[in-house]
Parts: sequence; C-alpha cells; structure tokens
Amino acid sequence: CGIVGYIGKREIKSQLIEGLRELEYRGYDSAGIAVMQSGKIDSFKAVGKLTNLDNKTKNFLTDGLGVGIGHTRWATHGKPTELNAHPHMGDYSYVVHNGIIENYREIKSELENCGVNFLSQTDTEVIVHLFEKEYEHYKDTFAAFKATIERLEGAYAVLLITQKTPDTIYFARKGSPMIIGKNSENEVFFASSDAPLIGEAKEVAYMEDGTIGYATPDSIYTEPHTLQFVPLSGDKLTAQKGGYRFFMEKEIYEQYEVMSDTMIGRVLDNEISFEEIDENFLDGISRIKLCACGTSYHAALVSSYLFERLSKLPVQVEIASEFRYKEPLLTKDTLFIVISQSGETADTLEALKMAKHAGLKTLAICNVDNSSIVRLADTTILTRAGIEKGVASTKAFATQVMVLWMLSLYFGKRCGVLEDSQINKELDAIGHVPTVLKNALDIHEKCKRLSKRYLHGHGFFFIGRDIFYPLALEGALKLKEISYLHAEGYPAGEMKHGPIALADAELFTIALMPKTLLYDKTKSNVEELSARDSTILAISPEIFDLADDFILTHNHNHPMLEFFEMMVVEQLLAMEIAIRLGNDVDMPRNLAKSVTVE
Ligand code: G6P
Repeated sequence: CGIVGYIGKREIKSQLIEGLRELEYRGYDSAGIAVMQSGKIDSFKAVGKLTNLDNKTKNFLTDGLGVGIGHTRWATHGKPTELNAHPHMGDYSYVVHNGIIENYREIKSELENCGVNFLSQTDTEVIVHLFEKEYEHYKDTFAAFKATIERLEGAYAVLLITQKTPDTIYFARKGSPMIIGKNSENEVFFASSDAPLIGEAKEVAYMEDGTIGYATPDSIYTEPHTLQFVPLSGDKLTAQKGGYRFFMEKEIYEQYEVMSDTMIGRVLDNEISFEEIDENFLDGISRIKLCACGTSYHAALVSSYLFERLSKLPVQVEIASEFRYKEPLLTKDTLFIVISQSGETADTLEALKMAKHAGLKTLAICNVDNSSIVRLADTTILTRAGIEKGVASTKAFATQVMVLWMLSLYFGKRCGVLEDSQINKELDAIGHVPTVLKNALDIHEKCKRLSKRYLHGHGFFFIGRDIFYPLALEGALKLKEISYLHAEGYPAGEMKHGPIALADAELFTIALMPKTLLYDKTKSNVEELSARDSTILAISPEIFDLADDFILTHNHNHPMLEFFEMMVVEQLLAMEIAIRLGNDVDMPRNLAKSVTVE
C-alpha cells in the first residue's frame, strides 16, 4: 500500500490522487484522501481502482493553501471495504498508515473501555483515537502525537492531520518507508516511495527509522534524527524500480524486508500464532493435501517435508492441472491447502472448487487479498510479500515457504507432537531468516562474474536432497523462465538412475550442498557426476575440491537457513545469466504473471 501527503497551494485533491497513481504499481484494493483547508476537513474513500475515487471527488476542488493526506490500501486487517479504507477519522483528526500495529487490540480495548466507538476493523484506527485521547490530556498536538507513537508496537509510516493545527502534518516512521520532499515554493510532500515525488519536489530526505516530527508550509521539525535533504532526479519508471535494473532484482533485494511483514504478529516469543485460524481448525483432520502450480507448487513440495517432520501429518502434493482430471479420492479428514501468489490461477482455483464441492476444509496461502482464491477458500493466510511484478516469482515464493514452515510448527504444536525445545529451536531459526536473506545478497557480485561461464552448453541440472530437491526444481525453473536455457531439477540421489547418461563437460551441474542436511550423501552424488566430467558449480558452506566453480555460503545451524540463502543464490544467478543473454528479465517471452486460463 502507499501513502502521500501534501502541504501547499496547488489543487490538493489532484495532487494527492496523482501521487497515489504513481504508487499504483504496488497494488491496492481501496483508496482515500483527506484534505484540510481553513480548518475544515473533507474526506473521500472508494473501494477498487483510483478512478472510483476520481469519480467521487469530481466536484471537490481546493483553492489556496491547505494540507492533505492520501492512501492506497492493500488489506491486511479487515476486508477491503470503504469503512476499512484510510484515512481513518476521529472527532477532529485524520490518519493514514502503512505497516502493522501489533498491539492494536490492546489499545483498542482500552479506548473502547473509555467509550470510543470504532468504525473499522483495521489496526490503523487506534492511532487517531489514541491521538485525540492524548490530546485531551496534553492539550498540545505534538506532545499528544509523540505519546501516541510511543505506544505503537510493530511497523508504521504514519501521517496525521488535525483541526487543532490546520496547516500542519504530523509524521512518524518505523519499519515502513517514508520520504519527505520540499521545493522553493513552500511546498512539502510526503510519500512512501520516491515515485510520487519525482518532478514535484526538488529535494527529498529519506527518513531514518524512529523519526517523528511535523511540517508546516514554512518549516519541518523532526526528532531525534535530523533530515538530510538530497536533490531528487531520475525518471518515473526507474523510481518504481527503486533504482534497480529490473523489478525482479528489486524483489530479490526486498525479500528480507517483506519477510518481516510475513512474520509480524505471527512469530511470538514461544509459539506461532495465526489469527486467521480458529481454535477448532484441525478438528477431524488427519491428513493434508496441497495443490498449486509453478513456483507455488515448489513451495508446496518444500512444505511436504516440513509438515511430515514437524506436524506428523501425512501429506500429498498435487499439481493443480493434474489433480483436476485424475478423479481424486477426497476424504473429509483431509485439509486441502492451495498455494497461489496471484490467487487467480485457473487450475488452482478449479482444484479448490472441487475440494470445496467434496466438502473438504480448505485453506488458501495467497499474496493477493480479495482474489478469487481468497474469496472462495474457507480460510486464508496472506503471505504479505507486497505486489510482485517480475514474472519469475521470487519474494512470493520466499514468503510462501515461510508461511508453510510456520504453519507446520503451528500444527505440530496443536497436534501435541512437538516438544517445547524443538519449537524453540525452530523459532530461533525463523527469527534469523530476514538477516540470512539480507546477508545472502553479498554473493551478487560473484554470481555476476560466474554468469559469463554458464551461457552455453547443453543444459543444466540443479540437484539437491530433501527440501533442497524442491529448491533445485525452483532453481531450474527460475533459470528456464528468464534465460530460456534448458534446465532440470533432480533429486541428487536419482541422477544415477538415468540422467547421468547426459553427463559430460557441456552439462552444467548446480549442486546444492547444505552442511546441515545429508551433506555426505549429496557429496557422493556430485562426485559421481564429476567423475563423468560434468562441469560442477557447487553451492555450499564447505569447500568441495571437485567443483569447477564455487559459491561459498555462510555457515548456519538450521537447514531452512541454508535453504533461504541458497534460494537467493539461485535467483541472482538466473537473473545474471538472463541479463547477460540480453533477455527481458521482468517479462520473459511466452509467460504471463497470472494464468487465468486452463
Ligand atoms: C504462472 C507464473 C508462475 C507462477 C504460476 C502460479 O505460470 O508465470 O511464476 O508460479 O503461474 O501462479 P500463482 O499466482 O498461482 O502462484
């Protein structure tokens, strides 16, 4: 979702809506603005596209100095309805917010006990009511705003306007980005990424985490950090890509950030919690069937190892297009889980319909709220990866795997098959994932250099064992999708049953050799290939003499941490090879991001 704010003399409504338009690429399901002039606030909201907001505000025009805030919302807490859309209002103030307030329930019930009425189901609404409550106490707007922000746990970028100080916008950020811009005409701009500011603000400052302050037409005050303004240049498309060459690259680089969103409110001190799932969810369930297509299918395969290990529930994984016509036997003790980034994939949607028709309990793991799959499934867990533009899925896959890992732990606990010590070990590893994803990016230069040696030859085998087998499948798929080179994923131990016949120096083997899982077994399989002259690129934290090339990963104490690091390596390698071949990484030939036909 996105945030914009403006102080100045332009027509404020158009300024805000045009700003939001620049943020459309991030995806949203409702939008709204609040404009204050001469102490009077007008607010408009609309579900769906910005044209709906345009229509609603057709006859509303401002003239002269004023302030305004705007927001596009991608639902996290509460459905995408007009009531849940931002700005949220109190008696005399309005707020917009990106992020998630983890302790909103606690604040909400406190305020309700004081007689405050809530209109929406969002976490955001607590901010505006809390502010007004604090104002009653402090009689000073900034003191009240500071006291409000201090109470918030979680991630936020917040803009607030109030009739108490009609020419001011209050702002704060922690964990969610916020940029402030200005120019020589006493105008101040806010946005959650620089796209809306290009061509508008001469200078911008990227607020540091923990910044809080207020702006008026003539001054900007912040604490505890000061703002470092820098000139803003560049074109709009580059801005949308945040300076990266391709959306895919940007999405690989933001994985560690979105992963924190995936985990927020779900990873607690000593357990996993899913507010989406009710108490009796697993009643009568004794097995799991997972169904998906493409990359999402690979996430399902990874989870089949995790569910059996951690939840002790038997698992079956199905490719949706196969499932539909195999006349599957469906029994009511089966939990049917569909996984889909877009929530619109026709085969997955149809498979879900079949499962529902057979009376199975259904759960969707999806990145797009209000998509067809989300609307149909009994329960949904959103992956919260933010919009993914690159056709080759990266951050959506990473967050799917994370949700599935958390879910297998959650089920394990619910089924009483996990010791506390085991849960703590898994939780500790989960907590390290964002850092692992961030540090994994250090390997980018190496992948760039290596890519030139892997452009020709007659094909690639990605091999791995256990969860690294589906990761090998995913690595091969990434490479195929964007480089158009032939690649296959194989279980390392299966190579000797046929594929090894292809081995020669022109066959590239990408070997996933984690240290924490079946290292020696994988190593012998790689040795078999090396003995037959295959060119080996080993990805491992352990030096392997027989490899022609090597990508040295970090040492970790949990296979899933090695998994996430190697996933990044595969993504970067595929991207660098495709770039060297001159391909359009974001829009590879013949592929669509969301396949809504059978
Ligand atoms: C298309 C995309 C793939 C994706 C698959 C499933 O084929 O090109 O990247 O994995 O659909 O999409 P879904 O949205 O259901 O995860």
